[in-house]
Amino acid sequence: MSTKKKKFLITTPVYYVNDKPHIGHAYTSVAADVLARAHKLQKEEVFLLMGTDEHGLKIQQKAEEAGKNPQQFVDEISDGFKDLWEKLGIKYDTFIRTTDGKHKAAVQKVLQTLFDKGAIYKGEYEGLYCIGCEQFKSEDELVNGRCPDHDTDCEVVKEESYLLKMADLQNNLVKKIESDEFKIRPEKYKKEILSFLKNEKLKDVSISRKNVKWGIPLPFDEQHTTYVWFDAFLSYLTGLGWNGDTSESSTLGFWPVDIQLIGKDILRVHATIWPIMLMHLGIELPKLIFTHGHLLSGGRKMSKTIGNVISIDEMLEKFGVDDTRYLLMSAGTFGEDVDVTMERLTEKYNADLANGLGNLISRVVKLILNLESPPKADQPLADKFQSQNPNDEISNFIEKLELNNALSYIWDIVRKDDKFIEENKPWELVKTNKEKFKEVMQKLISDLYLISELLVPFMPGTSEKIKKALKEKKTDGLFPRIK
Ligand code: MSP
Repeated sequence: MSTKKKKFLITTPVYYVNDKPHIGHAYTSVAADVLARAHKLQKEEVFLLMGTDEHGLKIQQKAEEAGKNPQQFVDEISDGFKDLWEKLGIKYDTFIRTTDGKHKAAVQKVLQTLFDKGAIYKGEYEGLYCIGCEQFKSEDELVNGRCPDHDTDCEVVKEESYLLKMADLQNNLVKKIESDEFKIRPEKYKKEILSFLKNEKLKDVSISRKNVKWGIPLPFDEQHTTYVWFDAFLSYLTGLGWNGDTSESSTLGFWPVDIQLIGKDILRVHATIWPIMLMHLGIELPKLIFTHGHLLSGGRKMSKTIGNVISIDEMLEKFGVDDTRYLLMSAGTFGEDVDVTMERLTEKYNADLANGLGNLISRVVKLILNLESPPKADQPLADKFQSQNPNDEISNFIEKLELNNALSYIWDIVRKDDKFIEENKPWELVKTNKEKFKEVMQKLISDLYLISELLVPFMPGTSEKIKKALKEKKTDGLFPRIK
């Protein structure tokens, strides 16, 4: 009998290739990979979609500065993203690039469909444009007339443009957000978007640019290229193999997407332009947009000028793959801004990994040597010591995207086991009470197998190493202390 597996689709944003990938990109991607692996463990058919966003003025300008032709420029940087995902143990199913021929053809097909049905029309657009965000900004988004995310002045743009109708669908969108048919989480972001949508009538959005060369030409007016966000959003569908034909839903097998992970700076576009594009196309909205906060360093936005940027390569070199994944995911509440510094990361590494889990493993492995027949992995867990079902507890955290809480839960087991060792003094039991010693060891070994199982989505390599250490009774320098 074949039972149909539940499908689970998760996406990260397609990252801009104006510069090399950084720790912020790694944060989103590691989280997506953890969620994808966790859902795989629940026997779901999982698809993790990632990619790069390769058009627009910002990239065109960067390529010019580097004296490279834009395609060569984006090829190199896009490869750098793929390399980093490999180094971080991230296993995506498709890596979509918005300069792929198939993606471009699909975008043109969508544009033509929307133009033919009158959802896109020719007009004029006037507004303040932030090149860093690649977005027109409304007054309420600016601070002293400047973009707060990029700390730059906005450019006044007034030009002939094609526009996408927005306001007609606004009430409908509000209803879908209110009813959670289109879920925005954490809750505070749902509130923020609803209050924005209820207080302001959405302006039609300019979806073309006349003087940006590096973009997909509009099929009905070759003097214009497609606005980079319109192009990028569609990668969430073309990445699944969709060819832009609205009557053809077969290639959208995984749609609607279960989770779209994004950072807070790109929430508003994801909660307005994107769903309205889908509504015009008659395609279901994402089930959930989950917004995480930003990684800050020393209380401030990371910036090359301030000199507080934490390099992901440096982290990988210092801590290795799994420990970097652990440090990113445990750094703070997933959904809130999180402050990191290299010193604090190192302290946390030493506390949780070297002195915490690493120390527990090496104590248990040393004690195993006193057992005539150590328990095996498939032996039942020492249930009598466990009040909750840890697998269910972790599934609950995963369901709510409380990734840091899932890890805290696992580290609670580590702490309780340390206490259990102190209380039971197995090094004395081995001499005084062999039966009790065996029982205590059974509990500790079961817990370590359990921990290794619970760690699979977060630290897949370490999970294997823990099992190996228990089987071979040697720790081989797991989690060395770091200065
Ligand atoms: N290309 C657009 C996304 C298009 S999706 C249809 C884009 N790219 S980006 O490269 O600038 O940013 C991608 C993601 O990285 C965003 O979710 C953003 O929030 C995240 N981060 C960028 N800097 C970050 C931190 N310092 N910390 C955490 N995430 C951050 O926007």
